Amino acid sequence: MIEFHDISYSVNGIQVLSGLNLRVAHGEILVLLGRSGSGKTTTLKLVNRLVTPSSGQVLVNGKANDQVDVIQLRRGIGYVIQEAGLLPHFTVERNIGLVPKIEGWPEERIRRRVQEMLQLVGLSADLASRYPHQLSGGQRQRVGVARALAADPAILLMDEPFGALDPLTRDELQREFLLLQQRVHKTVVFVTHDLREALRLGSRIALMEAGKLVTILTPAEFLRSSDPWASAYVRAFGDGLESAANRGTS
Ligand SMILES: Nc1ncnc2c1ncn2[C@@H]1O[C@H](COP(=O)(O)OP(=O)(O)OP(=O)(O)O)[C@@H](O)[C@H]1O
Ligand SMILES: [Mg+2]
Repeated sequence: MIEFHDISYSVNGIQVLSGLNLRVAHGEILVLLGRSGSGKTTTLKLVNRLVTPSSGQVLVNGKANDQVDVIQLRRGIGYVIQEAGLLPHFTVERNIGLVPKIEGWPEERIRRRVQEMLQLVGLSADLASRYPHQLSGGQRQRVGVARALAADPAILLMDEPFGALDPLTRDELQREFLLLQQRVHKTVVFVTHDLREALRLGSRIALMEAGKLVTILTPAEFLRSSDPWASAYVRAFGDGLESAANRGTS
C-alpha cells in the first residue's frame, strides 16, 4: 500500500505539487492521468524517493519511506519508464537480472528467473543474449517490464511505459499487462496522459492538473463525471470510450 499525506513539492521556487493526498490500495492499478507538466512523473518519483517532498509524507506499506534505507525501499519497488531505461551495454539477460544480481542471487537462479520473466512478458528465450539496440521498441518495453518484475517487488511504478509504441503494439501490451496483473497482483501506479489507456487499465483514475489532484474516480465514474476537468477529458477523447473502460478486467 502507498499513501501520500499532504504532499507539497517545490523546486527552484516553482511549486510542482501541492496538497496531494492519495492512497493506493494493495493490488490495484492506480492511474495518474493528466496533461504534460501536471506533475505525474514527480508524484511517481516520490514513491521510490527519486524526489523528496518539501512537506508531507509518503508511506510505503505503512512506513514513512524516508525512514527506511533507500536501497531497501527500492528493492521492493519496480520502476518502468517510457524508453524502458535499459542499460545499453548489458544484454537482455543482464538487464533483467540486474536487481537479483545486486541482491546476491546465485547465477543459476538468476538465469532461471530471467527465462521465467522472458516467458511471462511474451518474449522468446533466445532474445536473452541480445543488446537493447537489437530489439524493437515494443520488445524493449517488455524487457523493461520483465526487469521491473524480476526481483518480485510488491509495488510497480510505470511511467508512460507504452507511450512511444504504435497503436497495435500498445493495445497488445495493455491487454497482456492486464492478464499479467491478474497473475502477479502488484500494487501499481501507472502514469499516462491517454484517457483511453487510463479507462482500460485503471482500477481507479487519479486526475492531476497543475500539480494538484483534481479527483479520483473509477473508469465508469470517470465517463459520467460532472467534474469539469474530467468531462473536458472525455470530450477531448470523443466517441467509443465506453468500450475502452476496463476491457479485459470485467
Ligand atoms: N527539477 C525540477 N526543476 C524545475 N522544475 C521541475 C523539476 N521537476 C519537475 N519540474 C516541473 O514540474 C512540473 C511537473 O513535472 P512532471 O515531470 O511531474 O510532469 P508530468 O505530468 O510527468 O509531464 P509529462 O506528461 O510531460 O511527462 C513541470 O512543469 C516541470 O517542468
Ligand atoms: Mg512525465
